Amino acid sequence: MAEVQLERRGSVAVLTLDNPPVNALSVALLTSLAQHLAAGLKEPAIKAFVLTGAGKIFVGGADIREFGKPRPPDAPTLAEIIEKIENARVPFVAAINGVAAGGGLELALACHARLAAPAARLGLPEVKLGLLPGAGGTQRLPRLVGVEAALEMIVSGELKPAQAGLELGIVDAVAGGDLLTAAVAHAETLAAAGKPPRKTREIGGKIAAANAKPDLFAGWRKETARRFRGYEAPQRCIDCVEAAVKLPFAEGLKAERAAFLERVGSEQSKALRHVFFAEREVAKIPDVPPDTPTLPIKSAAVIGCGTMGGGIAMNFANAGIPVTVVESTKEALERGLAIIAKNYAATAAKGRLGQAEMEKRIGLIKGASSFEEIKGADIVIEAVFEEMEIKKEVFAKLDAIAKPEAILATNTSTLDVDAIAAVTKRPEKVIGTHFFSPANVMRLLENVRGKKSSKETIASVMALSRRIGKIGVLVGVCDGFVGNRMLHAYTRQANSLILEGALPHEVDKVIYDFGFPMGPFAMGDLAGLDVSWRIRKRRLAEGGDNHPAYIVGDRLCELGRFGQKTGAGWFRYEAGSRTPVPDPLVEELILKASAELGITRRKIGGEEILERCMYPLINEGAKILDEGLALRASDIDIVWINGYGFPAYRGGPMFYADRIGLATIAQAMRRLHEQHGAILRPAALLERLAAAGKGFGEP
Ligand code: CAA
Ligand code: NAI
Repeated sequence: MAEVQLERRGSVAVLTLDNPPVNALSVALLTSLAQHLAAGLKEPAIKAFVLTGAGKIFVGGADIREFGKPRPPDAPTLAEIIEKIENARVPFVAAINGVAAGGGLELALACHARLAAPAARLGLPEVKLGLLPGAGGTQRLPRLVGVEAALEMIVSGELKPAQAGLELGIVDAVAGGDLLTAAVAHAETLAAAGKPPRKTREIGGKIAAANAKPDLFAGWRKETARRFRGYEAPQRCIDCVEAAVKLPFAEGLKAERAAFLERVGSEQSKALRHVFFAEREVAKIPDVPPDTPTLPIKSAAVIGCGTMGGGIAMNFANAGIPVTVVESTKEALERGLAIIAKNYAATAAKGRLGQAEMEKRIGLIKGASSFEEIKGADIVIEAVFEEMEIKKEVFAKLDAIAKPEAILATNTSTLDVDAIAAVTKRPEKVIGTHFFSPANVMRLLENVRGKKSSKETIASVMALSRRIGKIGVLVGVCDGFVGNRMLHAYTRQANSLILEGALPHEVDKVIYDFGFPMGPFAMGDLAGLDVSWRIRKRRLAEGGDNHPAYIVGDRLCELGRFGQKTGAGWFRYEAGSRTPVPDPLVEELILKASAELGITRRKIGGEEILERCMYPLINEGAKILDEGLALRASDIDIVWINGYGFPAYRGGPMFYADRIGLATIAQAMRRLHEQHGAILRPAALLERLAAAGKGFGEP
């Protein structure tokens, strides 16, 4: 039950905001706060107020779940409450006991003094939801910390630790010990001084300083457009801070309000709010309850220290977990460990890691050349070559050596986790942990549930994902799991499009403009074209089909053009540059391939390119969902945003599909099916939902 509790401490009224889990400012909480304020402000015996939060958080912001829902007409707004507090005749002190985010910090900024616990964090993260601070944050923060510091906080949305908040001037003091007692004492002192309370809106010095820098806002707009390409909210945040500088306070507040309302109704904010909740939903597994016991992971081992193994080991070290890496030869081990050390040194050189911390992390990674040395590990992650026979051999050995309770995980990207589990006597402890390259950077982790993976193994690996800073998504066993299976559907169409008439740079431009960091061809060049070439050759040898779509990709590989690593692939790369340059030789290969296949090339517009790439991707997602390989549509969105750079402001492919309307997509897929055959058959789930007028988010 959301409510505010009032406690008298002498002449000070302590108001504790209590609305678990994050004390979000719901209508119910605001109503209760408004009632206490109305009564308390009339009482002469109350000489000051302290505002604090129950539990570990001060206030996590407005209640995001209530956005876009009808509000009772007489419900008090946060802005009204803030107005009352700032204009009160008696002082208000915010006792910031934990996170003060969004509307929570805005509430604190309206108080006349702020004290923070050392572990508190302060910020205005609204921009991450496609919004901007809507209750005076863009007007008051610059007055306290200066325009540039405020812009950095509001545009990035990052939370600052209490100490940084003190240095910036957001809080008046960081109070170790009993925060509430300190806040009450501070409130008493302010009340005793008898001066009118200090209003943040009246602090002018730092705002005036910005007028001396005429190019400041233009510079921020330009840099922000680069840093947050495609995102609308960061620009609107800058507009509002500019209003704080150029307009009187009340006018600035009005401009902020109008911008906030525009943002709440925007498509981008709807998408980003969906992503916020999707990121939290993903941890919930219907048949693995939150109280499922997990294996405490105190030490880890990684088998194979190549591209993936090295990055995986770094994740453990970064989280403070000792990790042993095993390689097949001394040379390979030395090479792998040297790359890890080089990666850490590069991070340190950029100033993102201190020397001592770097050494500590490197010290947590131990190289080994024998499996004997992983005996004590709680989890072993295998990242050797992608060959079933090698994987089986490794797992049989691991099963014999690793302690009985240890989890044995595989980083395979294409092989059957159940077949790997079957060579062990502990298939319930075997699971896939599919990291994305570079494994120490990419946030996504597809945790692949085998037929026999136990609930404890699943819960342990999901918890571990969080601990090592990843977003773990539980998926089922199938070719390519969720992400790569969908990627395949998408790149296949991109490859068909170039045979029908488009060129790689044209396809890439459409995808880049849509918001991906790069198009499918530049991505192929980055990942290495030989990887998928080898997979295609293996499948062909195993009797699989050789789709003509890949004819040009195969020929590039035959020419030794593997992408960036060989200086050429779909594009050319100047020495030392990662910028793709269209290559006439590739165009020639493409035209020749079209002719050989008897295809008359035609002009293909941007809209068609986008549909051809995105609708089959969505269609494959629908099949995955129908087959139960992903738990929910929003999990697929999380996979694509965090693993493949799908623009978060479009909410992920399944959310995007819902916004377009499944009837439209189903109709387009029927047309494509007719034109291109079985590969583009509309998914049954897509047809069912479209017929019922529903979306993936509401099956
Ligand atoms: N509204 C509604 N629910 C919220 C919420 C909010 N502002 N913030 C968190 N929650 C919910 C989460 O969905 C989650 O719910 P479930 O347990 O049902 O999944 C639960 O609270 C716990 O959240 P976390 O797992 O994120 O908890 P945490 O302790 O790791 O982090 C936090 C706490 C830092 C506050 C983090 O939740 C967060 O960043 N929240 C969003 C903060 C934010 O963006 N606030 C701005 C809101 S907009 C605004 O305030 C506009 C304005 O100016 C008026
Ligand atoms: P890699 O070739 O860079 O590294 C594999 C390493 O394993 C080599 O250093 C090799 O010496 C070592 N190795 C081979 N057999 C071994 C054994 N028996 N004992 C100990 N070490 C052994 O390969 P990469 O790219 O790191 O891939 C590893 C696994 O990760 C594969 O299963 C791959 O499919 C998967 N994967 C790869 C991704 C990528 O982008 N490279 C992405 C996601 C998964």
